[in-house]
Amino acid sequence: MTLILKINNKKPELQKIKKAAKVLKSGGLVAFPTETVYGLGADTFNKNAVRKIYKVKGRPFDNPSIVHIADKKDIRILANEVPKGAEKLIKKFWPGPLTIILKKKKTIPNIVTAGLGSVAIRMPKNKIALTLIKEAKTPIAAPSANKSGKPSPTSASHVISDLDGKVDLIIDGGCTKIGLESTVVDFTQKNPVILRPGGYSFEELKKITRNLRINRKNTKQKAKSPGMKYKHYSPNAEVMLLCGKPLQIKNKIKKILKSSKRPSAFIGKEHIDGFDFYFTSKNPRIIAKNLFKKFREFDEKGATLIVVQDFEEKGIGLALMNRLRKAADKFYI
Ligand code: TXA
Ligand code: MG
Repeated sequence: MTLILKINNKKPELQKIKKAAKVLKSGGLVAFPTETVYGLGADTFNKNAVRKIYKVKGRPFDNPSIVHIADKKDIRILANEVPKGAEKLIKKFWPGPLTIILKKKKTIPNIVTAGLGSVAIRMPKNKIALTLIKEAKTPIAAPSANKSGKPSPTSASHVISDLDGKVDLIIDGGCTKIGLESTVVDFTQKNPVILRPGGYSFEELKKITRNLRINRKNTKQKAKSPGMKYKHYSPNAEVMLLCGKPLQIKNKIKKILKSSKRPSAFIGKEHIDGFDFYFTSKNPRIIAKNLFKKFREFDEKGATLIVVQDFEEKGIGLALMNRLRKAADKFYI
């Protein structure tokens, strides 16, 4: 049985949080909101609890989880050394959508890190998440709270539709603010590398970390961030990503719609005639915040094709395009 607990995001009710923390402490699974997406949490040091996360998500065991902390000092529980560069980023960007990869302490169970010598650590910027971690008095291992392969959940209803009956507790803390996952930065190599673009932009982070690079080949060969090699974020509908000038895109869409009579949806900057459903905005932050939600909504409405117009790869646009590429079945340039 899954308990669903509504908690006020601005002023979390401590009694409710304590109840959720107790579930975590006794080896249960709790889905909770963060500023990016909902996470499915377990006590990092309880192997069996973490194993359950993988089972209920259908997540491959070679995809490590992020460990969430509520106090910067708790990094010491997880890593022996924090490089200067990482310290600077943490000082400026925690709490927030930044995950840091460091060499791990041996005490962290292998199931959490998929047997890697490193651990992913993040301090979320969400009152419910922070209070929950504090009350649990242990770092919380948590991947996104969706079925593996599905779009990440940005509201409790998404978690319920994927995991109801399979986890102990789902906290309903409303819609998440950012809508895409955290930026993952690897500090285990000589120079820091972005393994997954996310809530903080490359430009923002680079102001503090001058030698920061982006790993652009994260879908091929031996992926550095193991999670990047799997198909992700996919609605049931076929996703078609169209890249190019607006006129080229309009012409391409005409052809697509002529040959396909199925219920279809459009995501892009402005309305283009011919679709059954739409989600448009010129602001990439709004698209990012609602992308996963719209993927799920379009599925529910019966769309079997989702056509998406490309966005410029700067600011949040880099993370947005990363997720769109992973969700897409077909590309046109
Ligand atoms: O915003 C977020 O990051 C959300 C919320 C819940 O915190 N979490 C999230 O977790 O997106 P997940 O498991 O869906 O994605 C974690 C990513 C995966 O791509 C995984 O491969 C990578 O982080 N990762 C975790 N540990 C790693 C490690 N030791 N080395 C390299 N990549 C790692
Ligand atoms: Mg995920």
